[in-house]
Amino acid sequence: MVSNTSNSYGAVARFFHWSIALLILTDIVLGLIGDATERNAETAWFLQTLYSTHKTIGVAVLLLAVLRVIWALTQPKPAPLHPDRKAETFVAEVVHWALYGAIFVMPLSGWVMHSAETGFAPIWWPFGQNLPFVPKSESVAHIAGAVHGLSAIVIYLTVGAHIAGALKHAIIDRDATLARMTKGTAAGSKTSSGSHIAAMVPATILWVAVIATPILTQPAHEHGPETVAVETASDANWQVENGTLTFTVAQMGAPVTGQFGAWTASIQYGDAGSGEVEVIIDTTSLTLGSVTDQAKGAEFFDTSNYTTAVFAADIEQIDGVSHRANGTLTLVGQTIPVVLDFTLNRDGDAATMTGTASLDRRDFGMGSGYTDESTVGFGVTVDVALTATRTR
Ligand code: HEM
Ligand code: HEM
Repeated sequence: MVSNTSNSYGAVARFFHWSIALLILTDIVLGLIGDATERNAETAWFLQTLYSTHKTIGVAVLLLAVLRVIWALTQPKPAPLHPDRKAETFVAEVVHWALYGAIFVMPLSGWVMHSAETGFAPIWWPFGQNLPFVPKSESVAHIAGAVHGLSAIVIYLTVGAHIAGALKHAIIDRDATLARMTKGTAAGSKTSSGSHIAAMVPATILWVAVIATPILTQPAHEHGPETVAVETASDANWQVENGTLTFTVAQMGAPVTGQFGAWTASIQYGDAGSGEVEVIIDTTSLTLGSVTDQAKGAEFFDTSNYTTAVFAADIEQIDGVSHRANGTLTLVGQTIPVVLDFTLNRDGDAATMTGTASLDRRDFGMGSGYTDESTVGFGVTVDVALTATRTR
């Protein structure tokens, strides 16, 4: 039978139950393996594949969950086998409702986290990666990650209780509860009521608490352009008002952009079209989506040993607004010549500058464990944009 009756589960309900159960259990295992795996160059490829699989399975769960609920709404709900055991039946139903919540909250929180982050493992499907209305924001990713982690704990407990209950029926009670879900066996009263809405209440409270707790308790913690702290040296001719310093590198073939939240620029630039610039970057203010920690690690920016990077250059005017800063970049203890081409638009005592430099991470010995470009590209594009006003 395709459809449910008042005392049996039809093939469609059973398909949804077992396919979602299998995918959820697989995703829990993948999530736990991912959590337990150390993050370094050797494990990068493995982790990216693992998380892409995890996310793709999770999104499949969400789609099946939507279809499952639509289907369930059109179907009678098979009555409990032991309506006389009121407390046991009620607990079993609370767990069922909690599991219904889990198949939405778990993948959605994961997906919100994924949407709010930049880079790292993509969902393997062609329909886009990001959810509408979810901003790229570290604090949103952080809160969604906390909901995801808390939901995982709820899932361990509810799935554990649910499986234990199913086994108790099969082994101790030796009744048809499990057979109803595996084979579609019809069993139990055809007349007693199939669903108790009261059991929805504790399950709903549980999920509201799981979602609300991280939102209410996570400290807002945001980096990036919103908190850019740009200062200038006191003897600078130009005071930098505002700016962004970002870099872009290919990760698994897709561009990923990171940024430095804190840097200082000291610029001297005269009307003759020449001058000097020194930019001191606080590398600990780096953010690179979900891989910030790896980027700060010994393999790349090594921020526990090198907290600053310095770009010092002479500025020359090439033609009209087009300029070139020819100098060196000192990063992770290596000093390498770097050319920054930029445009400078001046309007009286205000100036807008946008520039780009191309680097090769290997020149700085960065990511030496990533010997080919399949995980992390060699070329890095640095983009600077700032506005400044003349002080003297
Ligand atoms: C059936 C749905 C899902 C289940 C059961 C599930 C389960 C888990 C578990 C058990 C963990 C490890 C626990 C932890 O880190 O505290 C985890 C981590 C993670 N999940 Fe999921 N997940 C699901 C769906 C998704 C989806 C759809 C996405 C993204 C599109 C996602 C993204 C992630 C990420 C990025 C992590 C690592 C979090 C971190 O270490 O910061 N998950 N998931
Ligand atoms: C090996 C693992 C599992 C076993 C043995 C199992 C067994 C069962 C059984 C025997 C029933 C029928 C209960 C009844 O008729 O009162 C049932 C129902 C149910 N199970 Fe599972 N289950 C498993 C995993 C899961 C998982 C991971 C979920 C998570 C979504 C889940 C969600 C549900 C829900 C929501 C119901 C209520 C029936 C419905 O509305 O579809 N089960 N399960």
